[in-house]
Amino acid sequence: MDEVRIHRGLKEVYLDRTKSSYVDGKNGKLYYRGFNINELANNSSFEEVSYLLIHGKLPTKSELIQLTEWMSVRREIPSQIIDLISSIKHLHPMDVLRTAISTLSAYDKDLEDESIQTNIERGLSITAKAPTIVATHVRLRDGNDIIPPNKNLSHSANFLYMLFGQEPDDLDAKLIDKDLILHAEHGLNASSFTARVVASTQSDMYSAITAGVAALKGPAHGGAAEGVMKQAQDIGDESNTKEYVKDLLSSGGRIMGFGHRVYKTADPRALILKKDAKNLSERKGNPKWFSILQSLAECMEPYEKKGICENVDFWTGAIYNLLEIPDDIFVSIFALARIPGWTAQVTEQLDNNILIRPLLEYVGELDIPYIDIDER
Ligand SMILES: CC(C)(COP(=O)(O)OP(=O)(O)OC[C@H]1O[C@@H](n2cnc3c(N)ncnc32)[C@H](O)[C@@H]1OP(=O)(O)O)[C@@H](O)C(=O)NCCC(=O)NCCS
Repeated sequence: MDEVRIHRGLKEVYLDRTKSSYVDGKNGKLYYRGFNINELANNSSFEEVSYLLIHGKLPTKSELIQLTEWMSVRREIPSQIIDLISSIKHLHPMDVLRTAISTLSAYDKDLEDESIQTNIERGLSITAKAPTIVATHVRLRDGNDIIPPNKNLSHSANFLYMLFGQEPDDLDAKLIDKDLILHAEHGLNASSFTARVVASTQSDMYSAITAGVAALKGPAHGGAAEGVMKQAQDIGDESNTKEYVKDLLSSGGRIMGFGHRVYKTADPRALILKKDAKNLSERKGNPKWFSILQSLAECMEPYEKKGICENVDFWTGAIYNLLEIPDDIFVSIFALARIPGWTAQVTEQLDNNILIRPLLEYVGELDIPYIDIDER
């Protein structure tokens, strides 16, 4: 057999070209469609960023109003999906979200239409509905009434409203909006890769986004924020942090919210969210989680020179916790933020499609004689 070069985990392999986002791992910068993430986080809205990612340009005022209105009338989910959520409400929220998004295809009257425009609309429609799915699940499993979406609220404010049953504080809604912007797109991460693989077989947008949710669920990808808060709870008090880190690392464990395949310096999203986590903990009069995470970050400073730095998930857990969001929907929030990114990348894939089909080097035996079952 020919000698082959293996790229385990496809590390440092370029699969194609993109204009969706640029993750500059060396300099710790992130751009969506050429716009620096800091500018977008400080000035934009999730709806505007969704438009930007999917259409490749910032919307005009009327285009943004049109998109906002379009999404606001697509937040409701069919009653059959509510029944489905109710029947599987004991599952993890990511399992519920994955199942519900997959089932949404049953209510799409134009399933045969595979045009780019229709696929974009599907992606945006799923974006509009995903917070409703997550909030509906939380309310049902907690034995509360469902709160229907409110057409006058933004995407982020609506999510908090449907989750808690009351209109959120403006600052809280803005913070969640910023968090969604920061999670909306990120190069060829595992879930976007998965969504592209599915799209490359000429499957459909529902399947691609469902697969994206499935890939995001794991702790090496989206599940880390939940893990970060579990760690903070295990530490319990900042005086225990040093011992905790020493024990975990010496037993081969990993600190959740640290390390990244591409960033070998600080993740720019973590730098933004760290300030927000600090401000929020002061605003809510609850400094405990920020202090524990701060002490954890200090203990990890020696690992910076190895390229193991805080990633986006490190501070999000504290922010969600301070907003009284249940721990097990942290990764679902990541998922509902990432749908425009998946949509943009699936659209990009379809625009110039090629089947994604890498190779595995076979290292097993060959020509083994078949032995009859009675003689084995
Ligand atoms: C994200 C992650 C999977 C990227 O991993 P990767 O690029 O494949 O890097 P590797 O797993 O090969 O790790 C490289 C080295 O750094 C170490 N490392 C990476 N992340 C670490 C962490 N969070 N804590 C401790 N050590 C870590 C590994 O142990 C390995 O050390 P070694 O070379 O001595 O064996 C990894 O950093 C991780 O598991 N982080 C924790 C989970 C997390 O926060 N995920 C969210 C990502 S946004």
